[in-house]
Amino acid sequence: MNVNITNHPLIQHKLTMMRQTTTGCKEFRELANEISLLLGYEVTRDLPLTETEIETPVARTKSNILTDRKFAVVPILRAGLGMVDGIVSLIPSIKIGHIGLYRDPESLNPVEYYCKLPPDVAEREVFLVDPMLATGGSASAAIQVLKNHGVKHIKCVNLIAVPEGVRRINEDHPDVTIYCAALDDHLNEHGYIIPGLGDAGDRIFGTK
Ligand code: PRP
Ligand code: URA
Repeated sequence: MNVNITNHPLIQHKLTMMRQTTTGCKEFRELANEISLLLGYEVTRDLPLTETEIETPVARTKSNILTDRKFAVVPILRAGLGMVDGIVSLIPSIKIGHIGLYRDPESLNPVEYYCKLPPDVAEREVFLVDPMLATGGSASAAIQVLKNHGVKHIKCVNLIAVPEGVRRINEDHPDVTIYCAALDDHLNEHGYIIPGLGDAGDRIFGTK
């Protein structure tokens, strides 16, 4: 299984808070963005650097800056919206696209209802964000949408994944790296992650 799990103590602590039933909507949203920011360090770890010459107040020196690259963060609506601000705070100039998918409660298959991407998305490295990678159906479909728009470099960023979802993405899209904060145990008969955190969208938006 090809998955990158960032089990930094701060992330684990915040995820524990998110999982708890007693954590309310405001705190849940704050934690989702905080963890996304922390995951962002791992997701951007391999960005290339270019050496440049600069002047400090006391010396001339060589120092690194990020090589000019274009990025986009694409949340899977709705719940993915809860991760956008964390990524934007790391890369303030990043463009934002949206892919709307919901999971049919019976078949668990994704149903696409919206797509709006930056016009030059094909030239961008895309961070696809969604808190939950369950069956992997939604993420796989969203990745296919991005590829249909010509995107070549995609990283899938989730808060919680399960082996079923990871295997699905590894099989459907072996070129996509998955980053998550935790790999949970299994899916229940309704396709919910166990132990998970419940319905991420409902908890972020207070719809239940
Ligand atoms: C949730 C979640 C993912 C999807 C994961 O969205 O945010 O998009 O389920 O499940 P999968 O890996 O089995 O496809 P949901 O369909 O509940 O929609 P919402 O974000 O609008 O609440
Ligand atoms: N979507 C969620 O929001 N939670 C799960 O556990 C699985 C899918």
